[in-house]
Amino acid sequence: SRTHRIAVLAGDGIGPEVMTESLRVLDAVEAKFGFTTERNEQLVGGAAIDASGHPLPPATVEACEQADAILFGSVGGPKWEGLPPEIQPERGALLPLRKHFGLFANLRPGVCLPSLTHASPVKNELIPHGFDVLCVRELTGGVYFGTPKGREVREGEVTAFDTMVYKVSEIERILRVAFTAAMGRGKKLVSVDKANVLASSVLWRETAVEIAKEFPEVELSHLYVDNAAMQLVRRPDSFDVLVTENLFGDILSDEMAMISGSLGMLPSASLGGKKEGSDLYFGMYEPSGGSAPDIAGQGIANPIAQILSAAMLLRYSLGESKAADAIDAAVARVIDEGYRTGDIATGAASEKKVGTREMADAILAAL
Ligand code: NAD
Ligand code: IPM
Ligand code: MN
Repeated sequence: SRTHRIAVLAGDGIGPEVMTESLRVLDAVEAKFGFTTERNEQLVGGAAIDASGHPLPPATVEACEQADAILFGSVGGPKWEGLPPEIQPERGALLPLRKHFGLFANLRPGVCLPSLTHASPVKNELIPHGFDVLCVRELTGGVYFGTPKGREVREGEVTAFDTMVYKVSEIERILRVAFTAAMGRGKKLVSVDKANVLASSVLWRETAVEIAKEFPEVELSHLYVDNAAMQLVRRPDSFDVLVTENLFGDILSDEMAMISGSLGMLPSASLGGKKEGSDLYFGMYEPSGGSAPDIAGQGIANPIAQILSAAMLLRYSLGESKAADAIDAAVARVIDEGYRTGDIATGAASEKKVGTREMADAILAAL
């Protein structure tokens, strides 16, 4: 049977809790669709700091290099916030992994299933068909990685600085990903920038207009990021695909997650180039949310973002699209059947209130 290799990095907080459930779901689709994943589980983030003093040990990078894809949980938490920023879980493990593997395209599908619209804080008449927007976030550039970055004394005062920087080639490649995605969907692309203030955004907008010529069927429009944040809650139904730089995408994708009901529902795929001679990508797959220290250890986190991330891994990195479709369908079914973790529960009598494990059990039963 077909065998694939994946690196499994559960990380911190709710990471291990939701990872366990996504691996059970993988077991089930492997049995059903006749393939196997060889899983190399490694430490990352705070868990790795505690074990080895480093958030991204060499063995973890090696496991990722040998794999077809990475399934990632989440990293970080109050325990490690006092460490020097460079070795904290986020800046010492997550960002270096993205950079090391050139994962410049972060796809975050914000989907609110019609039966979950009541869990969305957006007025339900504004999302008559639910909500289905793909956020394409640039992931290896911008103010996250630009230099100079740091802190020094200037004119006798402590001063900190970051640099938002984009090369035209970096903008072109992420725009091509977004236009291509729009071609496969509703053919509407909104490019989000701050071209009224930022030089990098002026280049971003010019480049978007240029790349649009390669995709004449796609209707391109531009929004300033502040207006985009507002329009997402004012007319959520009018968006199809949204493309933006790293920091704006970080912020807008959390907003989109909430419109979809909860951060616990939003998966993500971080992709680089295609593998040689193949239509598949090396990628890292993780929930868009974090380690949720406020609910960690209680067995109440929503595992769906992690489970849907595993489905994206099957689709984009392993070519197991039937298994991916089956997971998506099973998740939709349990939502329709009323299964609700705390983050998406509204207290309605028809809801079946469940914890992390029971939600996964319901998804397994639906499979
Ligand atoms: P967070 O995403 O961890 O949590 C924000 C809110 O969403 C919390 O109330 C949390 O309970 C809720 N939430 C998130 N996922 C949920 C789920 N699956 N089910 C139910 N509720 C869920 O953001 P934060 O609190 O700002 O950050 C906590 C830590 O996570 C920080 O150290 C941060 O840097 C880190 N973080 C890591 C990642 C990652 O590893 N990819 C992403 C975001 C934040
Ligand atoms: C995300 C997270 C990360 C980001 C943090 C933890 C570095 O918020 O994946 O959205 O900002 O990219
Ligand atoms: Mn984020």
